[in-house]
Amino acid sequence: MATLADLARAHTDLDDEDIGILQDLSSTWGLLADLSFADLLLFGRRDGEPRGPLVLLGHVRPTTGTTLYRADLVGQVFESSRRPLVTEAFDIGRTTAGTVSVGTDRDVNVVAIPVRRSGHTVGVVVRERFRPESRPTSEQERTYLTVFDRFASMIEAGEFPYRDVERLRHRTPRVGDGLLLVDAEGRIEFASPNAVSVLHRLGMTRGVVGSRFDDTGLGSAMLRSAFSKRTAAIDEMERSDEVAVVSHCFPLLDGGVATGAIVLVRDVTELRRRDRQLVSKDTTIREIHHRVKNNLQTISSLLRLQARRLQSDEARAALGESVRRIGSISVVHETLAQSADDDVAFGEIVRPLVRVVEESVSSPLRPLSFTVQDEAGLVPGQVAMTLAVVLTELLQNAVDHAFPPDEVDASVLGTVRIEFDRRADGLAVRVVDDGVGVPEGFTVAEATGLGLTIVRTFVESELGGRIRLDRVESGSGTVAEVWVPGSRLVDPGGNARDPAT
Ligand SMILES: Nc1ncnc2c1ncn2[C@@H]1O[C@H](COP(=O)(O)OP(=O)(O)OP(=O)(O)O)[C@@H](O)[C@H]1O
Ligand SMILES: [Mg+2]
Repeated sequence: MATLADLARAHTDLDDEDIGILQDLSSTWGLLADLSFADLLLFGRRDGEPRGPLVLLGHVRPTTGTTLYRADLVGQVFESSRRPLVTEAFDIGRTTAGTVSVGTDRDVNVVAIPVRRSGHTVGVVVRERFRPESRPTSEQERTYLTVFDRFASMIEAGEFPYRDVERLRHRTPRVGDGLLLVDAEGRIEFASPNAVSVLHRLGMTRGVVGSRFDDTGLGSAMLRSAFSKRTAAIDEMERSDEVAVVSHCFPLLDGGVATGAIVLVRDVTELRRRDRQLVSKDTTIREIHHRVKNNLQTISSLLRLQARRLQSDEARAALGESVRRIGSISVVHETLAQSADDDVAFGEIVRPLVRVVEESVSSPLRPLSFTVQDEAGLVPGQVAMTLAVVLTELLQNAVDHAFPPDEVDASVLGTVRIEFDRRADGLAVRVVDDGVGVPEGFTVAEATGLGLTIVRTFVESELGGRIRLDRVESGSGTVAEVWVPGSRLVDPGGNARDPAT
């Protein structure tokens, strides 16, 4: 879709600064549409072409009234004769107004306001609204319409959009949030029902209209800054954790002098409360991982203590294995405790896992070197947990079986390589050693040891993946490969975690 800037460059002679003004306008004009209960259209035209075609650069619908346009017409080009009031506003550089009949029975009120910058017309904003049938107007409606007229004069005088607008940190406010009209002395002339509710929440129980803005508790510095700098100002006030209100102040200017302001107030208490909850949820999860890790370490120490009291070597070895398996799970919890995310960079876990295995080699019969190749990327915490246990078993097997002391030369350094291969459709993890290789006729499916049984079960049922163990094709050694399909690597919740849950 073409942006406002694209359209302006294609159909007008505006320079970047002119286009910047129209962009500033279109970032705040929702407010003006609301105030006028009407659609606003922004037209552009080439210089020096009095009868030249008009291009529709932008359109905004009111949230306070019904739109006249169901279709999106932005980008369309109109003959000048079809929009005579717009053409006239371009020609004379002043606001034009009139009634245009559409169809047979309805009249549309049109006001065409030139957007001016240092003496020339940059574009024309058009307000189009069905001519109100003689229905009674409320005070609110009358107030909004007069405020719109004041903004319209500011646009024509080159005083709106404001120069150096403070970039809106929050979503562009709409009138429905709550509107206060303040006069040049800082007295509240009008307050919409939603604004009154916000002020009540802030503890203002007296009548709002007629009070001083300073007494609302909304921060009078914002109003003063808006008046003196003649540009929009934003303030957020939070009273302990009960109420949080964001206010946007728009000064109303006349010949360079602030004659009042509108302040849009928005109750963001609920939003801020959720933000805080999210933060504390993150810290809670981190704390839980931390505790799980500590508990696992306690369990390991208990097993180690118990192993020391045992006489049977076999029993001691079995407990030693368990200590090691628990160790690899606790490594993952440690990593998860440090990141706020549910996803883990698996590469960060590999080093500590290797350490777990190295520590388990009670009497290193021969020196081994471990190397890691390539990146595993991010994986969900649960997958990391499973993969950590699997990888530990494979590393342990290389240590236990690849280099039997009576078969290999103890003076040669044995190597164990951990390789990651992250592809679009999954992740391959390989543990490659240069030892004696698996026994003749060996198959994973038939392996009865606890280690490979754990590996097979975890890989197939938890990860939905595959495992293979083969002799290295050229030379000696074993390659163990685990394949995790891509569907398990993507967090089911995606990145769009719902803050509400
Ligand atoms: N890297 C390897 N090099 C040579 N043989 C291996 C290798 N990995 C596995 N094996 C063979 O596969 C067998 C089964 O391994 P598995 O891990 O299931 O049991 P284990 O290591 O003997 O006992 P456990 O892991 O329960 O302590 C091993 O006994 C060994 O013969
Ligand atoms: Mg084993």
